[in-house]
Amino acid sequence: MNKLINYSWLISILFLGLTSTLFSAETEKKPSSPSRTVDEVLKQLTVDEKIALLWGDFESGGVPRLGIPSLMAADGPVGIRLKKPETQAKPDQNKKKGVTADDDGEVTEGAAINATATALPATLSLAATFDVAAAECYGQLIGAEARALGFQVMFGPGLNMMRDPRGGRNYEYMGEDPLLTGLMGASYIRGMQRQGVSATAKHYYANECDRQRHFTSSNLDDRTASEIYALPFELAVREGGVWIIMTGNNLVNGNYITQNPDELDGRLRQRWGFDGVVLTDWRAAYTPLESIRAGTDMTTGLCKYVYGDEDLKKLVADGTVTMAQLDTMAKRVLTLYQRTGLLDGKAAAKPSIDTAAHAATARALASEGMVLLKNENNLLPLTPRSGLTIALAGQGAQWADAGTGSGRVNTPRISPMEGLRAAYPEATITIAKTPDQAAKADLVIFCATMPPSGEGDDPESHDLRPGQSELIHAFAQANPKLLVVVQNGTAANAMPWVDAPQAVLFAWFGGQAVGQAIGDIVSGAVNPSGHLPFTLGRRIDDYPAAALKLWPARLILDKDPGKAGLTKANRRTLNAYAADYKEGVFMGYRWFDQQKIEPLFPFGFGLSYTTFSLTDLKTTDNDQGMGVTCTVANTGKRAGAQVIQVYVAPPKSSVDRPVRELKGFARVELNPGESRAVTVQLRPSALAYYDISGKNWKIEAGEYQIEVGTSSRDLPLNTKVTVTTARTVDRY
Ligand code: BGC
Repeated sequence: MNKLINYSWLISILFLGLTSTLFSAETEKKPSSPSRTVDEVLKQLTVDEKIALLWGDFESGGVPRLGIPSLMAADGPVGIRLKKPETQAKPDQNKKKGVTADDDGEVTEGAAINATATALPATLSLAATFDVAAAECYGQLIGAEARALGFQVMFGPGLNMMRDPRGGRNYEYMGEDPLLTGLMGASYIRGMQRQGVSATAKHYYANECDRQRHFTSSNLDDRTASEIYALPFELAVREGGVWIIMTGNNLVNGNYITQNPDELDGRLRQRWGFDGVVLTDWRAAYTPLESIRAGTDMTTGLCKYVYGDEDLKKLVADGTVTMAQLDTMAKRVLTLYQRTGLLDGKAAAKPSIDTAAHAATARALASEGMVLLKNENNLLPLTPRSGLTIALAGQGAQWADAGTGSGRVNTPRISPMEGLRAAYPEATITIAKTPDQAAKADLVIFCATMPPSGEGDDPESHDLRPGQSELIHAFAQANPKLLVVVQNGTAANAMPWVDAPQAVLFAWFGGQAVGQAIGDIVSGAVNPSGHLPFTLGRRIDDYPAAALKLWPARLILDKDPGKAGLTKANRRTLNAYAADYKEGVFMGYRWFDQQKIEPLFPFGFGLSYTTFSLTDLKTTDNDQGMGVTCTVANTGKRAGAQVIQVYVAPPKSSVDRPVRELKGFARVELNPGESRAVTVQLRPSALAYYDISGKNWKIEAGEYQIEVGTSSRDLPLNTKVTVTTARTVDRY
């Protein structure tokens, strides 16, 4: 898709590959046991052994009699979640398998392996790079560490959408655009699976709200699913070749997705050709028969009783579940064992990790994702020199923030203060507790934070923590040379304070190196190039789910069920909430454009310390669709990178279509004065919408605008292409 190759990441990928040893190269030399095929193994298994493959938590299956080890898995999308250091762990946690679930099933700890893993910037930050090579490097790094620690499966990436800024897990996802999420996700998956470690695309699908997720039905039509919410998973399957899909805990259109044959056997396997394992989230399955008929291969966590105990055995014994059905599931799971090297001893190879290289990659990824939103009077960069005074303020100055829940990586982090002290060794860096203490500084950096967010709930608002907005105004009054750095895992509400500072940087949940990366951007060692993977509105009601009163999900029973039906003893299906996706495909910038709402900062926006020009747009038809070429020049004085975005604006259509949609992008790095022709490849479906009746992608006749620029609202180049005869294509 993305023709442009980002050479710096290619070098990192090669470097990571060499230091951690690519799966195929190292392990094929000395297999520790003879190769055996999936069919050979399947033939030797008893019914009990087959059933034992079908349930697990962070350890599952294995066939000890045949020397096949159990399958080891870990969370999560932004790095490996291991147990907290002993000092932080509660005494009753970290049992043998390293995981403890509360009675209501919330997982509280990671795998009990005494090691540390690299804490990468959140995937929301990764999405802001618009850099598929960076995504591949990211997946490869986690995969390499997983191999080294003995995990065959990673539970990530998260491919749900940021439907609303208040989604609790937005930091684990990749923003509001399905193509961006899908292409970055597919690249991440390829990088990881090249290490022989299975990625898990989760949580399939329309699992956008976390509060009462087990009882919430996401209600949406097939076009909205195909064009937006299921699309990242389609790309993960077709282009990432993902080996595992994790089903969400939610219902879709009134039916638990884990028990829905149309969504699993239908959409996933028949429409998209998925040939891997469908595995449930921790509480996503309820009854064995319905799960099997739908196409669920493995259940996890609190779904033990579904496949993991006597019930399934009885169903097989009395013929309700046929041996052919059981074999189909067991075969898919064994194929996963084979892919990850468990069948022939390849998984035993545990390459060592170059921790310093991984730390450097975490730092480079973090700075590449940071988005500079405002930079009046060229406040930044501030070149380090002796005699400078920098005042730090705000709760986040000495604190590297991260999301909570299963996406949290328990690794020490470098705070903004530590990172800035290293970036400015000769400067005086102080903490200003009150605005007057910052009045004379050469630069004031207010480090803002948001209320905690993560798995299991959705925050009430997307505001900064209470009081911070007022403090930002007070510091700006005392000293206009104010930069606000926000460590955020979602679209932080900037409207109440954005006019006060001269500069604003979204640093995200930036992982272990967040402080260093902030130092790199502020000092100019790195020229910012991140772009918003979502639209930043002026108020929450600018967003569709809020405007249409569709968030939070609507209670459809007489009273809130609380945690009823969640505990082990009384687990049951319960559709208590409706999340109505009535805005349809008009989510994110698609909504802002349709409703003509002026965003505070548009989707795709991000500043640089240099300037770029875009000229000479042309399109060419080719075998894979359409090539869109323009010339990008760095017209400023610093080397920098720009993200070229290609949108398609359709003609008047027989269905309601977004004003424009992102159909391709490329990140290009240029030295001052350098220019380059950049080609973005659009796929054959780029002009199409999903046609519910034909169940295919329909391109209507008419005149389409191809718009090119650097955000959804800054599109200086455009050209038209004319379709004379309507046609269909059978995939996105
Ligand atoms: C989360 C998953 C996670 C699993 C294991 C679930 O509650 O939704 O994302 O992979 O727990 O920790």
